[in-house]
Amino acid sequence: MTTSHKQRVLSGMQPTNTLHLGNYLGALKNWVKMQNEMECLFCVVDMHAITDAGYGKPDEVARATREVTAAYIAGGIDPRKSPIFNQARVPAHAELAWIFNCVARLGWLDRMTQFKEKSGKHKERASVGLYTYPVLMAADILVYKATHVPVGEDQKQHLELTRDIAQKFNNDYAKPDYFPLPEPVITGPGTRVMSLRDGLKKMSKSDESDNSRINLTDDADTIAQKIRKAKTDPHPLPANENEFKGRPEAENLLNIYAALADEPVKAVMARFAGQQFSGFKGELADLAVSKLSPITAEMRRLMADPAEIDRLLAAGAEKASAIAEPIVQDVKRIVGFAV
Ligand code: TYM
Repeated sequence: MTTSHKQRVLSGMQPTNTLHLGNYLGALKNWVKMQNEMECLFCVVDMHAITDAGYGKPDEVARATREVTAAYIAGGIDPRKSPIFNQARVPAHAELAWIFNCVARLGWLDRMTQFKEKSGKHKERASVGLYTYPVLMAADILVYKATHVPVGEDQKQHLELTRDIAQKFNNDYAKPDYFPLPEPVITGPGTRVMSLRDGLKKMSKSDESDNSRINLTDDADTIAQKIRKAKTDPHPLPANENEFKGRPEAENLLNIYAALADEPVKAVMARFAGQQFSGFKGELADLAVSKLSPITAEMRRLMADPAEIDRLLAAGAEKASAIAEPIVQDVKRIVGFAV
């Protein structure tokens, strides 16, 4: 192995709109656990944000970058231990992404389902950045030679592409093991949180209905109301996972409960089996409020001092650059650039 570290974690979120329960349970909550076990870096991917929703909205990208930073810290990331930084401040990401654009094959990108979903019927009108988005994501990870990437299930295909890029680079430049093949870390009952209005649709920042998601900025009343209004079915709560068949909303709410409570889904099901949704929803609302309200309050406190957030981001970028810069210089030499 040319990598001098054993294990390193890199993950990130886009600063577009407001973070929601899916981002928290699918990613951030797992990051907090990992920061005590491995060396971690957490990125706010502002360059990804302008591929789509953040394009042409400079104030929104800047605001959301600070808000995502505040959410990381409020959710439990310690910036003294794990650098938090925005992608645009570390130019090595963009430099490696260009080289990876030349490694990745069109056929690989053509298979990316997230691009297909986001570009919809009018692929020709999507930005080139949206198309090559997963290549930048591979650069985000490999510019630190990260070995572990904690994400929600929707990012699995992008991580497979990252591994393909790493492997092809290593082969084509005859540098076996130069880049590690990073492991996706997709664990727990919150890796695919679904919409509260439709158990077959992913909870998403871009859903038109605000009732479909719980935002990390929602107050206690709003959280309770959204859970009360969440779609369910007319049957009592299921007793085991076989009974989830055809009941995506029940499955989703039980998974959310389990993820928030840090309990196995089986244990949660055993407790509520046969009960009506109304009582369960009351308990779920109380649990969600007790876990999320302190985070929301801390985010608000941090957001009141944007200069401090900017200072943290700059300090994080300095630490991140110290790792990324030598790696990207090395890669430039490997591909034949005079540097
Ligand atoms: P983004 O900003 O869409 O989402 C951030 C993280 O939240 C997870 N997530 C979910 N998990 C469970 N249920 C949901 N409904 C849900 N919605 C979102 C995502 O899986 C993700 O972990 N491409 C990435 C950002 C990125 C990145 C990276 C991640 C850029 N470079 C390098 C890891 C490593 C994205 O769009 O995430």
